[in-house]
Amino acid sequence: MAEQFPESEEFVRLRETILSCQRCSLRQSAHGVVFGEGDSRNPQLVFIGEGPGAEEDRLLRPFVGPAGQLLDKMLHAAGFERFHGVYILNVVKCRPPHNRTPTVDERRACWPHLTSQLRYLSPRIVVLLGATAVQTLLGISSLSAARGRWHERGGVFFLATYHPAALLRNPAWKTEAWADMKMVVDKYREYVNPHHDSPFYPLADERSDEPG
Ligand code: URA
Repeated sequence: MAEQFPESEEFVRLRETILSCQRCSLRQSAHGVVFGEGDSRNPQLVFIGEGPGAEEDRLLRPFVGPAGQLLDKMLHAAGFERFHGVYILNVVKCRPPHNRTPTVDERRACWPHLTSQLRYLSPRIVVLLGATAVQTLLGISSLSAARGRWHERGGVFFLATYHPAALLRNPAWKTEAWADMKMVVDKYREYVNPHHDSPFYPLADERSDEPG
């Protein structure tokens, strides 16, 4: 069940604008608009996927199908929770038919919504899940060209990683995805909370496998 926080008037207005959007034809085939969810009270960490799938379109919540369950597990392993200091968004807010990749025109139509959301949420760290988010936010054509390093844009740190749906199809990539998540934890400790606790990536002075 989604947790509810009191939202600012500005955020409520933004939600209303996005929920009433008819800027592209995706809205006609989709059941509804998936705005995104999480902790809108100054989240420092935002995850951006591609677009809603079948389960997301049914429940009008992001990342609640099988890929979302994996994302939640990864968040948990890194010590994060979707409703505490984290927000989850998609590049397009309406489900593309048959889960096809959203077209460039559809991404363009949704771009003002995504930028308004990011402007409002104002995170320090943004994790891009898969090639569509990487192309849209960084203008880099492939995930492999963007992965493994931070991309700073206007004081915001972007990291590209595998989409959880890709990890479900290729479990061997989970090792690299976890390495990416550890980079996120490191950055979070550096810029947001030096004491951030992560069950599977403890702080250096708590790691039993290290001297001292
Ligand atoms: N895949 C996405 O990119 N976003 C979702 O919300 C669900 C699956």
